[in-house]
Amino acid sequence: IGIALFCVLAYLLGSIPSGLIVGKVFYNKDIRQYGSGNLGGTNTFRTLGVKAGISVTLADILKGTLAAALPTLFGYDDLNALIPGMFAVIGHMYPIFAGFRGGKAVATSGGVLLFYAPIMFLVIFVIFAVSLYLTKYVSLSSIMAGIGAITYSLLSSPRDIPLIIIVSILAFFVIYRHRANIKRIVNKTEPKIKWL
Ligand code: G3P
Repeated sequence: IGIALFCVLAYLLGSIPSGLIVGKVFYNKDIRQYGSGNLGGTNTFRTLGVKAGISVTLADILKGTLAAALPTLFGYDDLNALIPGMFAVIGHMYPIFAGFRGGKAVATSGGVLLFYAPIMFLVIFVIFAVSLYLTKYVSLSSIMAGIGAITYSLLSSPRDIPLIIIVSILAFFVIYRHRANIKRIVNKTEPKIKWL
């Protein structure tokens, strides 16, 4: 199968709105009408609690990992994981199954990295966790993770140009989708998490 078909499949996979499904099926709520209005793990946590939040975050990570893994199962080399992975992230942000109103690219991008560069995934996760502990802002920590990912890919794999390009695109998606959060952080109206 051509890599373009994997990109279409990845987009459809990324479009599966796990936050909407969990919210509607188990809580009869569209989480986009609550909290930040985002269709993602953080807003699921905020609106529906820990169990739902963790489930949605894991499902969103899995979408990226599966989209990236699929081509290699059909004999493509690892490099071909990155482009379909990116399409899964686009599906997650602009889901065809949920009126194109999706999430902020964080978990699904993480899922792509988990497949293609697991050590990098761990390093980025630590950056995210330390930032969350220090600032209490999930959004700012997601942005730090994006910046950390670009920096880490440049330092650890300066010759892996496809990785550097895709990581930069994913980090751009993350920052772009956090525009409203950035404004709120500057205005000091962004909510901090309370349980850390
Ligand atoms: O992963 C999204 C997170 O960084 C921010 O989510 O709902 O606070 O805008 P939210």
